[in-house]
Amino acid sequence: MTASPETPSANQMWGGRFAAGPDAIMQAINASIGFDQRLYAQDIAGSRAHAAMLAATGILTNKDAEAIGKGLLTVLSEIEAGNFPFRVELEDIHMNVEARLKEIIGEPAGRLHTARSRNDQVAVDFRLWVRDQCDAAITGLDALMRAFLAQAEAGADWVMPGFTHLQTAQPVTWGHHMLAYVEMFARDRSRFVDARRRMNECPLGAAALAGTSFPIDRHMTAAALGFDRPTANSLDSVSDRDFALEFLAASSITAMHLSRFAEELVIWSSAQFRFVRLSDRWTTGSSIMPQKKNPDAAELLRAKLGRILGATVALFTIMKGLALTYSKDMQEDKEQVFDAADTLMLGLAAMTGMVADMTANRDTLKTAAASGFSTATDLADWLVRELGLPFREAHHVTGTLVALAEKAGVDLPDLTLAQMRSVHPGIRADVFDVLGVENSVRSRTSYGGTAPDQVRAQIARWRDALA
Ligand code: ARG
Repeated sequence: MTASPETPSANQMWGGRFAAGPDAIMQAINASIGFDQRLYAQDIAGSRAHAAMLAATGILTNKDAEAIGKGLLTVLSEIEAGNFPFRVELEDIHMNVEARLKEIIGEPAGRLHTARSRNDQVAVDFRLWVRDQCDAAITGLDALMRAFLAQAEAGADWVMPGFTHLQTAQPVTWGHHMLAYVEMFARDRSRFVDARRRMNECPLGAAALAGTSFPIDRHMTAAALGFDRPTANSLDSVSDRDFALEFLAASSITAMHLSRFAEELVIWSSAQFRFVRLSDRWTTGSSIMPQKKNPDAAELLRAKLGRILGATVALFTIMKGLALTYSKDMQEDKEQVFDAADTLMLGLAAMTGMVADMTANRDTLKTAAASGFSTATDLADWLVRELGLPFREAHHVTGTLVALAEKAGVDLPDLTLAQMRSVHPGIRADVFDVLGVENSVRSRTSYGGTAPDQVRAQIARWRDALA
């Protein structure tokens, strides 16, 4: 970026009433070109649509509009080639593009801003950018869901411990656990789809805030930029940043989900658990402890919500209490959203890779599933079903049996029938059938339950949905 002169002269875009240029520090706090140059493609697309509409409505001559359209493409290729002279004294991407256009095509460039303001210009640029990010998030989530689905298919009926309070609760299936994340990320996906639909209205043509006296065609620019329709209130159009807030909110929930599986990976890949092996591609070594394989990617994914939620809180705080319509406060929206979007896309890609590459230790999972009295609920259910005990009494009898087993240092299936009968004389030998983990999961056939048949049905549904 070209440095500003010692005593900058008045701004060439809006400096008519100014005798002197801004203080250097004013320029530093005011300029957004350092970050909003990221909107160049959207800015040029918006300007091209605007110029074409100005010609179609007779506001500009075809000749001027053509010169503008062509010149903007030259600007685009200069920026893409990396040799565009961004100038901080031109504040932002909008004025940088227009000033360069003037150097390229001369006088007609000055007609581009007819019936437009930077207020509707930045609103449309930023909406287009956030809309693209919604699409990227949807694509990223689809890939992630497919990775979880592949894991579910590989081990639909593998038994593992299910946890509540991170204490062994009941045996569940690996496929079921993987599909839980497919459900979560599918909800996230639908939030981005929803937000995208709601944001897909075009603010261009609201001008500064009140609309314009020129006979513009807002439906034409809306259609040219892929919007469903123009926004209906010019004041709201230039002051609204809900689309960015919705994107951040959806991103925050997604990142929260990423952090939960990241935490499970950290736990599961530890030497104490050994439920999964993470591939070398997603782990790092220690410079001092040669045996180490650290789950760094998972740890970072556990942390990334901090940034994304931080951006969300920041933008809410920026927007809170702003009187209508545009205020310069709103320029602070972009860096937050840029960073959150970058973080989200990187996180989705990293998690997708880690899930695709991880290997579950089937035997370790099964051994863990069978320990910790995990089939105690099955025993209580058996007492209800076979002996007609009220559930509360069955719970108590089972609790006594668990205490007995714990004292003997064994698990429930290792108790003898005589030991069982000492607690309740009605217990029969067929009780042992329900104490095995395979039978336990097979019995949980309620809709959405962990039984392999249920899991396979859900896998089939997701296979169709994600095809
Ligand atoms: N750089 C500004 C922003 O990001 C563009 C809009 C400026 N509008 C204005 N009235 N100064 O918000």
